[in-house]
Amino acid sequence: MANNSKIWKGNWTFILAAAGSAVGLGNIWKFPYMAGENGGGAFVIIYLACIVLIGFPVMMSEIFLGKYGRSSPVYTMKKFVSLKGISSYWVLLGWFGALAGLMILSYYSVFAGISLAYIFSPIPADSLNPSQYSVDFFAQFQSSPMRMIFWHSLFLILTCFIVAKGVVDGIGATIKIIMPTLFFLIILLSIYSSFTGEIGKAISFLFMPDFSKITSSVIISAMGQAFFTLSLGMGAIMAYGAYIPEEQNLTKTVSLIIFLDTFVAIIAGVIIFPIVFANPELTPTAGPSLFFETLPVAFYGIPFSFFASALFFILVSLAALSSSVSLIEPSTAWMEDRFKISRTYAVTILGSIAWLLGLGSLFSFNLIADFQIFSMSFLDFMDFLTNSIMLPLGGLFIALLVGWILSENFVKEEMKIKNELYWKIWINLTRYVAPILIGLVFIFALF
Ligand code: PHE
Repeated sequence: MANNSKIWKGNWTFILAAAGSAVGLGNIWKFPYMAGENGGGAFVIIYLACIVLIGFPVMMSEIFLGKYGRSSPVYTMKKFVSLKGISSYWVLLGWFGALAGLMILSYYSVFAGISLAYIFSPIPADSLNPSQYSVDFFAQFQSSPMRMIFWHSLFLILTCFIVAKGVVDGIGATIKIIMPTLFFLIILLSIYSSFTGEIGKAISFLFMPDFSKITSSVIISAMGQAFFTLSLGMGAIMAYGAYIPEEQNLTKTVSLIIFLDTFVAIIAGVIIFPIVFANPELTPTAGPSLFFETLPVAFYGIPFSFFASALFFILVSLAALSSSVSLIEPSTAWMEDRFKISRTYAVTILGSIAWLLGLGSLFSFNLIADFQIFSMSFLDFMDFLTNSIMLPLGGLFIALLVGWILSENFVKEEMKIKNELYWKIWINLTRYVAPILIGLVFIFALF
């Protein structure tokens, strides 16, 4: 049971923490390159549909579960087992989420580490061909395992340090500084990019749908991305929900978080693509490297470019940090409760596991670049397994639990939804629309 020292102070802390978890590399780095690879506007439409029809009910459900449990996802599920008489197998949902969180953290930290490194690596002022320089620099960076290990380790240490300091003083306090600064800078940069780059081409690329590119694998990755970007399906939002103030309005809170997250993803596209289209060396379908190759170019040549570029990558790293803490929080809270050990101790063990696992993804760039599992690199495999399979599966079971297993009256009362029409829409989304869509996408992708 949470005591009062573990309740966020004020309504905004939960919103900022959940938005901090949601807004991260998934928005700034992943969304633009996925849209770029998978048919621009067509991908964006499917992604937005998943956000509204699946993300919204699942996020509400996760917060509701966490708020009722007031504990780590594993213990929250145990509470439902003992108080509501549901099958004890549901506890597996908590475990499954904690595992997914560590798996995601393992490779998340590799990319966040690259962002950290980029704080110190702007394009030199005397470079003759900045976009070529940028492409070469990233290639060189990837080929050095030791350099990557250094940054991967540093990022994980920072994450563990914040989580060790606690939910309110560590996570809550850090997020209140990070988030407003991040929003301010993103807006500034999008204005800069639209004035200096090819904004027209970027907009038509991002929003003109090309449905010929839509295959079942594009649909499954759009759905996976919707889960990933909203931090759903693995208990991060459930764990944060444990600290939400009793009276906070869930619908307003969730709508705001989803709006902020989607806004940042789209704006990230509006920052990156105008620069890509203005530089022939860069291609919109470059994949994961897109971000690290284009952004340094954006800063090249502007007044105080070293400073602006450093500031931007500090912010990307901070956005990643406010997400990574939520990836490790569910398992930390569980270990703290289960073994009665300090958070510092718990997070050290968990961080080490994520670090080791992360080496597999890190070496996919260099030492084991040719190694393949189901014709994917180790990194792509981890990404696919967690985002396209584990998160949607977690989300499916969360929707089933809230929509079908728990009694309707109980959910309705706890959710404090008064408007009948809205309740009908909400419960039907949770009961039918979200599970059926997730199921259909799985069936489609597998057969
Ligand atoms: N939502 C985060 C991002 O977009 C990643 C994340 C996924 C965080 C799952 C927590 C849980 O970067």
